[in-house]
Amino acid sequence: MTTDPVLQANDLSFSHVGRIAPTFESVSLRVARGEIVALLGESGCGKSSLLSVLSGLARPRSGSVSFNDRHVLATPHGISVVFQDPCLLPWLSVAANAGLGLDFNSMGLNKAERDSRVASALAEVGLSTDTTLYPEQLSGGMAQRVALARALARQPELIFLDEPFSALDALTREDMQSLLVQLVHKHGSSAIIVTHDIDEALRVSDRILLMGGAPAGIVGEWQLTAVLGEVPRKRYTPASLQLRDEIIAALSSDPTPVAENAPAAFIVSDSFTTHHTMEESS
Ligand SMILES: Nc1ncnc2c1ncn2[C@@H]1O[C@H](COP(=O)(O)OP(=O)(O)OP(=O)(O)O)[C@@H](O)[C@H]1O
Ligand SMILES: [Mg+2]
Repeated sequence: MTTDPVLQANDLSFSHVGRIAPTFESVSLRVARGEIVALLGESGCGKSSLLSVLSGLARPRSGSVSFNDRHVLATPHGISVVFQDPCLLPWLSVAANAGLGLDFNSMGLNKAERDSRVASALAEVGLSTDTTLYPEQLSGGMAQRVALARALARQPELIFLDEPFSALDALTREDMQSLLVQLVHKHGSSAIIVTHDIDEALRVSDRILLMGGAPAGIVGEWQLTAVLGEVPRKRYTPASLQLRDEIIAALSSDPTPVAENAPAAFIVSDSFTTHHTMEESS
C-alpha cells in the first residue's frame, strides 16, 4: 500500500431528491492505493448514500470527489460497485451476467477481450465450470461470486462494496472475505466495504471509518494494520477483541461528527486514536 490516494473526497454534503435536510455533510476522506477501508455506522445513517456519491452514482450537494486526481462526475471505468443484492439478471447466464459491466462502448473492448476478461474473472472467483448456469441454479454464495466477478472484469482500481456478504452464512461469508482480500491484493486495487459486521471490518480492512450523527459525518477512525497485522486476520485475538469493544462503545454512543478543522479527537485507547478525516485530506 502507498500513501498515494486513489480516491479523495473533500467536504461532501448530500441530500436525497425531495429532502431538505442533508443526509451527510462535511465528509472528507481519502483512500490510499492498495488500501481496504471499512465503513461502519448505524442503519439509516447514510453509508449507502455516501457510497453512491463516492462512486459517481449520485451527485453531492456540495464538495468534490476525485479519483486518480480526476473529478468524478459519473462512475469511472476504474471503479466497480458490488451491492448487497447480487443484482443478477435471471434471463442471462453466469458468463453474461459477469460481463454486464463491460458493455459500454466507451470501454472500447472487442469481443475477444471481453470474453477473456469474463473468463479470467470467473476463474478467479472459482466459477470456471459454472459459466453456463443461470441465476436460479446458483446458491447465494455463488451468486455473490458472480457479482464479484462482474466487478473484477472491469479491472477496477477501486471497488465499492455495500454489505456484499450480509446475506451469506458464516462460513461462506468468511470464504468470501478471504477471496475479496486476496483478489484486491492480487490486482493492486483498493476497496471500501460497507458493513454492519464489526468482525468483518476487523478481519478485512486496513482502516475503519465510523459514520454517525445527524446530519451524518465521519465520527471515528481506526488504523488497524499496524496494530492487528495484515488482512485477512484471525478473529477474536486479544487485540481485536479490545478494539471490537471500543468500536461497539463508539457505535452506541450516538456520536456527533467532529467539527471541521478540529484537532485529533476521539481517543479510543492508548494504541488507537481516531481522527477526523479532514486532517488526512489537508
Ligand atoms: N432514494 C432515496 N430517497 C430519499 N431518501 C432516501 C433514499 N435512499 C435513502 N434515503 C434516506 O437517506 C438516509 C440514509 O440512507 P442510507 O440508505 O444511505 O443509509 P445506510 O446507512 O446505508 O442504512 P443501512 O445500514 O440500513 O443500509 C435514510 O434516512 C434514508 O431513508
Ligand atoms: Mg445501506
